[in-house]
Amino acid sequence: MQKQGSWLNVVPATPAWAARFTRKQISIAIASFLLISLTLLVSTSHSSTSRLTPTSSNAPDICSNARLNPHHVEAPLDPDVAAITSFWPDLKNVLVEHGTDLPILEHPAFQYVPPTPEAIADRTDLLTPEQALLIRERHAAFIEDIPAYPSNTFKGRGIVMLAGGHYSEYAVTALGVLRESGSTLPVEVWRRDEREEKHEWCDEIEAEGMACRRLSDYLDTDILAIQDGKEMKIFTMLFSSFEEIVFIDADNMALQPPELLFESAEYKETGAVLWPDYWRYDNIDWLDYIAGISGNRSEALWEQKTSESGQVVWNKRRHWKALLLATYYNYHGPDLYYTLLNFGWAGWGDKDTFPLALRALHEPFYTIPHAPESVWVSGRVDDRRVGMLQMAPPSSVSQSDLAAQDDDEWEANAGRTTAFFLHATTIKWSHRDFLCVQCLPIWHTDLPSDPFFSRFESASDELYGRLHGDLPIMDNRTLVDYAPMAGNGNGSAGLAVDVEVRLWRAMEYAACRSKAWRHARACEVGRRYMTETFGFTFAGEGDGRPWGVTEAQGVPSMDEKVCLLDPS
Ligand SMILES: *[C@@H]1O[C@H](CO)[C@@H](O)[C@H](O)[C@H]1NC(C)=O
Ligand SMILES: *[C@@H]1O[C@H](CO)[C@@H](O)[C@H](O)[C@H]1NC(C)=O
Ligand SMILES: *[C@@H]1O[C@H](CO)[C@@H](O)[C@H](O)[C@H]1NC(C)=O
Repeated sequence: MQKQGSWLNVVPATPAWAARFTRKQISIAIASFLLISLTLLVSTSHSSTSRLTPTSSNAPDICSNARLNPHHVEAPLDPDVAAITSFWPDLKNVLVEHGTDLPILEHPAFQYVPPTPEAIADRTDLLTPEQALLIRERHAAFIEDIPAYPSNTFKGRGIVMLAGGHYSEYAVTALGVLRESGSTLPVEVWRRDEREEKHEWCDEIEAEGMACRRLSDYLDTDILAIQDGKEMKIFTMLFSSFEEIVFIDADNMALQPPELLFESAEYKETGAVLWPDYWRYDNIDWLDYIAGISGNRSEALWEQKTSESGQVVWNKRRHWKALLLATYYNYHGPDLYYTLLNFGWAGWGDKDTFPLALRALHEPFYTIPHAPESVWVSGRVDDRRVGMLQMAPPSSVSQSDLAAQDDDEWEANAGRTTAFFLHATTIKWSHRDFLCVQCLPIWHTDLPSDPFFSRFESASDELYGRLHGDLPIMDNRTLVDYAPMAGNGNGSAGLAVDVEVRLWRAMEYAACRSKAWRHARACEVGRRYMTETFGFTFAGEGDGRPWGVTEAQGVPSMDEKVCLLDPS
């Protein structure tokens, strides 16, 4: 558990891109080995098929557990794009005008170790006092010119998720888990443009109470320089048709229904809820001076935890000015503000632009007082993270949840609380990444020279042994500690036993049932693993063979009549 003052000891999570890069590089290196072993895998999974006996010969007709939208949530209506973008020309003008002649700060090289206090202090020289003053004046002028809130334009409450490309693969899982949390909020799934779309997926998610949105319908996406979405996030919040938003990263899984956040006293009081990251600020000391918060450069922020923007709760009506100021920071983020905010060690991007805007405008907001807690890969505790748990606002934690928790498990700085999100920062969950067998690349950014291998296929992958050995991926201790035991599960033993099971239900949906995503071999691999590892059963397709494999085709039936039965 992180304590105040111990941040230098925090082992940085391997960034997602690094994990992926390494995996691909290694995969290419052993490509020839894989060609041979693929044949082996195919025969292995087939021979294990015949090892299993069918579990149910008279399956129920209703396969409710295989559904992602049991609550019949309605998809959000098509937005009035013209009305929503009415403020954009004015906003763009002032973003550009008050960005004139700003100095450029180069994106620092990625750092694998946290910077020393001396190194942080030295960065003050990256700006002269004259340059800092100029940035401060531009910042103040922008605030003066922020376009007014467009009333009667945004409506209702909903979830905003930025997907697209590989992130759509993670989103399929996260959205499944979201519905499993019991959430009945409508969802907007954003992508940069048409090239980032998966054929048929947008039509399909309507039935789950979700709708696709393209940023390119709202603005000229050429202004977004960074491909991985750092600057896009704020624009999805800005152009979302909802007035009140829970923004959720595509790799972030809601363990409790996000509507509870809107009902929390913390949100009702402030209209904005943010979550802390593991580490403290390493900003350039001119930052608060530039933002008009301090009369001189200041080291005050270095004592504070940064913010983690994998989930953001925001009332656009109450915090319109701060949203637009954060837009200013992101618009000028890659060239200036991201580097003002961050040394480059980790977290260079949008994440700290939200609290900066709120502080600069003296708008109220609430930061969750509990540090994030790491969930680890089983067998690699304190070494390899799956991701981070982000906690519930104190007012939404029920006493019955706490009663079930063991006081000895709690450190003084965190107090008793429950997990609200599992942000899969390091191990990303998608049926393609986990289960694919000879899947083809599907994104315009994929190169033919860089073939796709799943974790199941790559003998060098860190999870290969667990997937082939029918072992759970996650060490469940942190999940047990922070489980909302009363929770929203219906008669379940609580979240602790449930998270990985929920994840796999969502993965099975993607691998086997989604017309846009399913893939027969991935489905078979997934169902076999789920059966052997967690005790799921699949039944209902006529001859009742395991995992819905039909005699005739030798491939799993992906018919909706194949029931997914939970582990008992
Ligand atoms: C601002 O801080 C610097 C360094 O601490 C100091 O040298 C300078 O005198 C201060 N300027 C003002 C106007 O207080
Ligand atoms: C829990 O399950 C029972 C029976 O399966 C059902 O009748 C009830 O409505 C469920 N409750 C909730 C809150 O989903
Ligand atoms: C946690 O995982 C261990 C090892 O896989 C398992 O034996 C135990 O039952 C799990 N506990 C819960 C509460 O899921």
